[in-house]
Amino acid sequence: MGNNKSATVSVDSRRVISEISPLLFSGFAEHMGRCIYEGIYDPASAHADEHGLRQDVLAALRELNYRAMRYPGGNFVSGYRWEDGIGPKSQRPARRDLAWQSIESNQFGTDDFMRFCREINTEPMLAVNLGTGTIQDAANLVEYCNAPLGSAYADRRAANSQAEPYGVKYWCLGNEMDGPWQIGHLDAVEYGKKAREAAKLMRLHDESIELVLCGSSSSQMPTYPEWDRVALELCWDGVDYHSMHYYAGNHKDDSPSYLALSAEFEDYVDTLAGILRYVKAKTRSKHDVYLSWDEWNVWYKARELSDMRGGWTEAPHLIEEVYNLEDALVVAQWLNVFLRKSDVLKIACIAQIVNVIAPILTQRNRLLKQSTYYPLLHFSQLARGNALDLLVTAPHYETEQFGAMPLLDVSASHDPDTNRGAIFIVNRSLEGALPLEITWADKTPTRILSAHQLAGSDPKAANSWEQPDQLRTQAIAAPRIVDSAAQLRLPALSFTALEVAY
Ligand code: AHR
Repeated sequence: MGNNKSATVSVDSRRVISEISPLLFSGFAEHMGRCIYEGIYDPASAHADEHGLRQDVLAALRELNYRAMRYPGGNFVSGYRWEDGIGPKSQRPARRDLAWQSIESNQFGTDDFMRFCREINTEPMLAVNLGTGTIQDAANLVEYCNAPLGSAYADRRAANSQAEPYGVKYWCLGNEMDGPWQIGHLDAVEYGKKAREAAKLMRLHDESIELVLCGSSSSQMPTYPEWDRVALELCWDGVDYHSMHYYAGNHKDDSPSYLALSAEFEDYVDTLAGILRYVKAKTRSKHDVYLSWDEWNVWYKARELSDMRGGWTEAPHLIEEVYNLEDALVVAQWLNVFLRKSDVLKIACIAQIVNVIAPILTQRNRLLKQSTYYPLLHFSQLARGNALDLLVTAPHYETEQFGAMPLLDVSASHDPDTNRGAIFIVNRSLEGALPLEITWADKTPTRILSAHQLAGSDPKAANSWEQPDQLRTQAIAAPRIVDSAAQLRLPALSFTALEVAY
């Protein structure tokens, strides 16, 4: 797989793909396992504030600067009665959560989530229950969150937390309704009709909200992509985004193919972008619908049914996947794809944010950052302004799944407002370091402000409670720019983030 050839990246700030939507760096928090309880909310932790929010976790989440947070599910939402989670905590009922066979104490609910969002400076993105829930329940939740005082649900909000409406802008019309596992699963026509009516009622409460339709739960679903076409045709003018979900994995322990997965991610976006264009033309609409990749992540090590069933306990340990170096390089490629597809992709939420397939793990009084934390951190901090269409040349290597693939996966941004830019590079090679020359075709940056790298020789290496810093990005010497070019050496199995000043 390795070789001693070199690669080039040519940057031209005039070749704009699209403005980067900040919401591409969003998260997802579900009432599942220990994401909410013992993750972000744990009154028994030494780090909890007076509201039970774990300040060590919130600090890490602030660092990742999630722009929006999807909540409360996931599969959980399809059986959730949101009114259980508001009002005095002592009066909230404990319920059986059928999605994860757990006990839901309801000690954390909508108002608690709003406080959490305020504290980490993120936009709430609420999902409504279109499984067991009615369109009336969905509309009531919009009234509770967004209506001014003077009606029953708005007045309940004032009694419970605050008089001022929360002004929740982003709403998901159910979750993975195409999946037979989903509580209240519907076929595409049934779902499209229910979603259309829910959207209508929700907008009657607040016409400024933006709505996300459920797309296929993955590109492997037997109903994909027909589900997407049918649901979109029924709802086109009433929704703003169409959701994608996908969990990737090295199922066959075939690292060369696994490390090339951006090809699959791009293909998935391209197919759905084609469907969006088709439905827009077919419905003769002037309205646009964009993609919301509101569940994405690596998830394959904890996929047994027993990993997902809580045995009717509170906050069970469910799918607490441990991430290694190659997983982090797949996450970095996913983020590259978000920039390269930023013309059609406007929201993306990593699933999930704490403990449950997450970049952060907690014990009662400790926190561990996993390998996947670091690509998220650098993209979230640096990718601003416009995504750029790059010219990349790199040697190819053979993969079983995709045939010949380039060794490099790259994306870049340029912000005309701040005159800063960023370049993100994954070297997929399992063996060889690769010399890289970056050139600038139009204006040349004055200097490279910072260079950070995550690299290692063992694709399976991972952080642990005993060795928490085995994998983290290191600051490396920033290459100099000479004659509109910079040279750098990319180690095998590496992710590099460069920040430049023009
Ligand atoms: O994120 C875990 C689960 O994966 C979500 O609840 C569901 O939407 C998806 O299948």
